[in-house]
Amino acid sequence: MVQLRLPKNSRVVKGKTHKAPEGALNVKTFQVYRWDPDDSENPRLDRYEIDLDSCGPMVLDALIKIKNEIDSTLTFRRSCREGVCGSCAMNINGKNMLACNQPLKDHLDRKGRITIRPLPYQPIIKDLVVDRTAFWEQYLRVKPWLIPPEDFPEKEFRMSPEEVEALNNAEKCIMCGACYASCQVVGLNKGYIGPHALLKAFQRVLDPRDSAPGERLNDVAGDDGVFRCHTIFNCIDACPKELNPTQAIETLRKLAQKRQAFEAHRRERQNSLIETTPTRSLEQSGG
Ligand code: SF4
Ligand code: FES
Repeated sequence: MVQLRLPKNSRVVKGKTHKAPEGALNVKTFQVYRWDPDDSENPRLDRYEIDLDSCGPMVLDALIKIKNEIDSTLTFRRSCREGVCGSCAMNINGKNMLACNQPLKDHLDRKGRITIRPLPYQPIIKDLVVDRTAFWEQYLRVKPWLIPPEDFPEKEFRMSPEEVEALNNAEKCIMCGACYASCQVVGLNKGYIGPHALLKAFQRVLDPRDSAPGERLNDVAGDDGVFRCHTIFNCIDACPKELNPTQAIETLRKLAQKRQAFEAHRRERQNSLIETTPTRSLEQSGG
């Protein structure tokens, strides 16, 4: 667990301005959230003027240019630059998205500005890097791995096209955290499992190769699970893979309700059988 010294208050102050070089023709302004745990200053928005004629087309290209050519102290995560690893998720002009697959031209306002902040609702480690410990802890709560049956086939498990279709592309999740960091329920309640993990639970419950769907439904039906979702839809808007965590949560909710109703009926039936069974016949049978 990373030990964090958080900003002394949440007020973000105006930071430094890094001017574009003389003669630059296509200058745009990048306002970037900065906070360093090693100083006692408030968070600030630094302004970097960049000549887009010498910059790649994506938001991440501009951040890399800033780090390589203007300010090496700027800190952010990135790896694949192809929208695959999920590490470059950040908040661009108020929306969570992947910096590597967002063209700059789509996000510059009429004054040629763009504002980049870290993902919300998570502690900040430095600048645009957030602490994802809670995100991963919630993910592990749903046991994201496949639990195979004891009598698994000698060769591969087979799934029909219909069974794959029912997963609704949930397996395409790249764990970027954009949905988690857009969810107001996460913001208010750190115990909530979260859309990313519930989407994984949905995938496992519907996977015909998994042997523990009932146990999984019990796990997500607790106080911090599917019934905590307020169906705000922010997770759908944020997802760079166009997945639908809200629909997955709704499906889990219905299945969990059916399971609870079935269990309640079963208990009721058992109790009524116990009450109506004559005591003498129980004694005679040695019960
Ligand atoms: S569901 Fe979408 S937004 Fe959420 S972690 Fe997966 S890919 Fe990212
Ligand atoms: S750098 Fe991998 S998704 Fe953006």
